[in-house]
Amino acid sequence: MKTKMTEMFGLAAPIFAFSHCRDVVVEATRAGGMGVLGTTRISPDELEIELKWIDSHTNGLPYALDLALPTKMGAVSPMIDRAAVLPPEHIRFVDELLEQAGIPPLPQAERDRLAQTTPGYRLTAQGGMELIEIALRHKQVRLVVGALGVPPPEMIALLHANGVKVGGLAGNERHARRLVAAGVDIVIAQGMEAGAHTGNITSMVLWPQIVDAVAPVPVLAAGGIGRGRQLAAALALGAEGAWCGSIWLGTRESELSAEMKERLFAASSEDAVQRSIRTGKQCRMLKSRFTEAWGAPGAPAPLPMPLQSMLVAEALARIEHVHAKDFMTYYVGQIVGDMKEETSTRNVFHDMLLEFAETTERLAQQLND
Ligand SMILES: Cc1cc2nc3c(=O)[nH]c(=O)nc-3n(C[C@H](O)[C@H](O)[C@H](O)COP(=O)(O)O)c2cc1C
Repeated sequence: MKTKMTEMFGLAAPIFAFSHCRDVVVEATRAGGMGVLGTTRISPDELEIELKWIDSHTNGLPYALDLALPTKMGAVSPMIDRAAVLPPEHIRFVDELLEQAGIPPLPQAERDRLAQTTPGYRLTAQGGMELIEIALRHKQVRLVVGALGVPPPEMIALLHANGVKVGGLAGNERHARRLVAAGVDIVIAQGMEAGAHTGNITSMVLWPQIVDAVAPVPVLAAGGIGRGRQLAAALALGAEGAWCGSIWLGTRESELSAEMKERLFAASSEDAVQRSIRTGKQCRMLKSRFTEAWGAPGAPAPLPMPLQSMLVAEALARIEHVHAKDFMTYYVGQIVGDMKEETSTRNVFHDMLLEFAETTERLAQQLND
């Protein structure tokens, strides 16, 4: 395939694979696309380990990093005592919910480990910059993408000075224009069917709007792409490639437990709901007893960023720890309804490209007939 994206990075296919799991990043990169490692959950030391490992398994091929840098964010320091900043009624609500469900507290060692970093610190400009400094030591990192806002000017300048391309996620035209004005090289137009933080505009409407708004800056289409017909639609609507997140969750390389994968494979597209209960900002995630408890009478309203992440981080760890399947949730988009069994990252690439080729042939025939 040949698009502005394959040309920019020397890829065989313009498929970008966002994942928090290094195995997916490696497999996607080796399959001819570009793996993108999400960094919101890791420290600089952990990032160094991850990048070393990715470098040693990708034979000089380019890959990318993703940082979430929200424009609107409360003050965060690397270590915060949650009891000092969280409203007691919110802490009580979560504790009672889990207690009633018979989900016990975490072992002390696990709680101590969680308390070592403030969820949300990596989402600050300072926390992000510490990661960039590590990333710049790894020459295969050819692209850094920022989500939830515009990356700070000094970050964009530093990356460009090191020959690294910069991208940004946008959920509407206004965000996209702001990113381009700040100097990004690529805009990722993410429709509301996507997993994790999303806006309110569907991919079908959003992609061509952003393509037109930022031309000639290239656009990657995100939100609801898991197969070749959707990749063909993305290119037909003017995108230069696809940026996918949810589809990799069902692969054998993904970070998910067997129970969580089972829940995803049983889910329909309607089970991927938009809630603010994980970070305080609207995210699409798998519906569960935990996500729905916040809609019950008497439940408190979610807190603003980063307080909500601080509030629920331990609760989600407790749920995982005892494999409380009904309470488990994970970010996932509407494409979950098409994910029925475990596959591999390489297979997703293979099937997507095959269906893409069949689709374009069918369309060419329809034009000739
Ligand atoms: C489990 C998961 C975690 C995500 N975390 C992030 C993140 O940390 N930063 C980010 O920019 N996007 C994140 N996203 C969104 C992806 O980058 C991507 O835009 C989205 O998954 C595309 O839509 P799709 O889920 O329909 O493929 C996440 C998506 C999923 C499914």
